[in-house]
Amino acid sequence: MSSTTNTAAPMGFTINDFKKYKEAGTPISMITCYDFPFAKIIDQTDIDVVLVGDSLGNVIAGYQNTIAVTLDQIIYHTEIVRRGVPSKFLIADMPFMSYHISVEDTLRNAGRVMKETGANAIKLEGGRDFAATVTALVKASIPVMGHLGLTPQSVHKLGGYSVQGKDEDARKTIIEDARILVDCGVCSMVLEKVPEELAKEISEMIPVPTIGIGAGRYCDGQVLVLHEMLGMDESFRPKFLKTYASLFDISKKAIQEYHDEVRGKKFPEEKHAYH
Ligand code: KIV
Repeated sequence: MSSTTNTAAPMGFTINDFKKYKEAGTPISMITCYDFPFAKIIDQTDIDVVLVGDSLGNVIAGYQNTIAVTLDQIIYHTEIVRRGVPSKFLIADMPFMSYHISVEDTLRNAGRVMKETGANAIKLEGGRDFAATVTALVKASIPVMGHLGLTPQSVHKLGGYSVQGKDEDARKTIIEDARILVDCGVCSMVLEKVPEELAKEISEMIPVPTIGIGAGRYCDGQVLVLHEMLGMDESFRPKFLKTYASLFDISKKAIQEYHDEVRGKKFPEEKHAYH
C-alpha cells in the first residue's frame, strides 16, 4: 500500500449516509472504477459511491466472465482508485472464491483488502449461504454491501446472465435472502437484473438501501459499470443500460485521425518540435 492511500481525507459520503439517504428518499449514485485517470474524473463529480467491481474481469481484462479475477487484482485496482478518489466512499468487490472457503479465510482476505487499499467496505455476492460470513465481517468492523439477483460469479450455476427472480420460488428466495442479509448487518445491497416489481418490494421491505442495476426505477440507488455507461463497448447494449457517451466512437476517431496525420506527414508540426 502506498503511503498516500490511507491519509486522512475529508469525509464525504460515509457509512451512515446509506440509511440517511434512504430515509430522506435521496437516490444514491454508484459507479464502478478501476484506474487512476477515471478515478480523478469521478472525484470531480457528485457521485456518492465508487465500486471497484470484479467486472474489471470483463471490461478491463476482456474475460468472458468474472471467475478468473483474483484478490490481488482487486487490491491492485482498488488501491489505485483510492488515490484518485481520496474522500469518496469506496467499495472493493470480493472476487470469486475469496469468501467461499471458510469464515477465517474470508476475514483474512477482506482484512487484506481493507488494510492494503483504503477501501471503506467490501461487496460480496450471495444470500443465506453467506450469512455466517457476512456476520463475521460486520463483527470485525468491515462494512459489507450484499449483492442479490443476478450474481455473475455464479454464471456456471445459473447457466447465463438472464433476469433472476421471475418465478414465485425464485422471487421468494431473493426476498428471504434480502431479509437474511439485513439481519447479518449489510449496509446496503445491490439488486442485479431482477423484475422491477421485485426490486420495489424488497426496497420497501428492508431498512437499508437497495442499489439497482437492471432492477428498474424503484431501488434506493443505481449503479452502472463505468465503461458500459460511457459506451466503450459497442457490442454490449442490454435493455437496462443507458449509455451517456460514445467513448468507443470518439476514441476510435481520434486514434484513426492520429494515424492518418502521421501517415500524411501532418503530425508533428513545427509547433510540436523542440529547438
Ligand atoms: O462487478 C461489478 O461491477 C458489480 C456491479 C455491476 C454491481 O458487481
